[in-house]
Amino acid sequence: MTQQTPTIQPIRIFDTTLRDGEQSPGVALNHTQKLEIAHQLARLGVDVIEAGFPIASPGDLEGVSRIAREVRGPIIAGLARAGRADIEAAAKAVELAERPRIHTFIATSPIHMSKKLQMEPDAVVERAVEAVRLARTFVDDVEFSAEDATRSEWPFLARIFKATVEAGATTINVPDTVGYTTPEEMRALFAFLKGELPEHVILSAHCHDDLGMAVANSIAAAQGGARQIECTINGIGERAGNAALEEIVMAFHTRKDHYGFETAIRTREIYRASRMVSRLSGMPVQPNKGVVGDNAFAHESGIHQDGVIKARETYEIMNAELVGREAAVLVMGKHSGRAAFRKALTDLGYDVPEDRIKEMFARFKDLADRKGQIYADDLRALVDSRTDIP
Ligand code: KIV
Ligand code: ZN
Repeated sequence: MTQQTPTIQPIRIFDTTLRDGEQSPGVALNHTQKLEIAHQLARLGVDVIEAGFPIASPGDLEGVSRIAREVRGPIIAGLARAGRADIEAAAKAVELAERPRIHTFIATSPIHMSKKLQMEPDAVVERAVEAVRLARTFVDDVEFSAEDATRSEWPFLARIFKATVEAGATTINVPDTVGYTTPEEMRALFAFLKGELPEHVILSAHCHDDLGMAVANSIAAAQGGARQIECTINGIGERAGNAALEEIVMAFHTRKDHYGFETAIRTREIYRASRMVSRLSGMPVQPNKGVVGDNAFAHESGIHQDGVIKARETYEIMNAELVGREAAVLVMGKHSGRAAFRKALTDLGYDVPEDRIKEMFARFKDLADRKGQIYADDLRALVDSRTDIP
């Protein structure tokens, strides 16, 4: 059966590592560290860098301002609540950017409006419209977000989004602030909003990972009509974090045949960005994390190792080099098979005759049972303990 190639649609990547990512408990980046990450994000090819929340502190304002002055390429955004002081601070912080954006937001769910804001829905719409109008007096590029959108009523979302688009917002962001939604719901919500809003509006998704579905929800949003996805390197962020940039980008890249989306990300810069963010934020990456985890390209079982030696595609859906890492690693341990053992010896420069491999492999298994993982030095010791091997 022949499969039809879908038309490829571009997806903008809005990186919020320096804003929502920095809201990870325990993370505080100084200006120099933020600038270093921002330069790497530009090398990576993100479309938008959300550089911070300028009203949060004079330090944050200065941090955003330095990035706006020094980093060229991506749009530089500053976050602002829907109020004059926030918007003025954001405007000041991004004023020297090549392509400045103000991102303003207000909550729209019944629980946030009644308990947190203590405002009536009509007043929330009015505040949002005023905020967007004010932001437009400073910049042409204004994004509006409805905080806790996925727990908001859909007709109310449509109402506030239409009003803010009329006031001048060009990007409309739909955050799953508390990581509550599901892929099916997200796709349907975006399809609904797409039908309600003018063609020129860019719909954006911003997902949190409380139920481990941030990446799936972001992808579903794109299938429903989102053309911008907000995410962070290594998925760092508030509570359980945000959607992980590297996973979304590589899902679109690897399954372009299925999704029909592409991003402008230079995938070979992904690993470097991941290492840098981990080092500077002090947040380690879990070993089994997709794309950037230590084990993401490591093969342990004999069956897998044998397959990978014969053809990498047997157990690899993407090459490590494509994301800027070294080629896949065969982990030597008790699950390793003879093919991997022979290859490891050859890679270390030994030419072991086939009739010796059997005996040495038995000793290797004994050692692996006792020791767990076997390293190059263990293999050298194993070979060098014999005098009849060249
Ligand atoms: O999660 C959220 O709702 C946010 C908004 C400020 C966009 O981070
Ligand atoms: Zn968020």
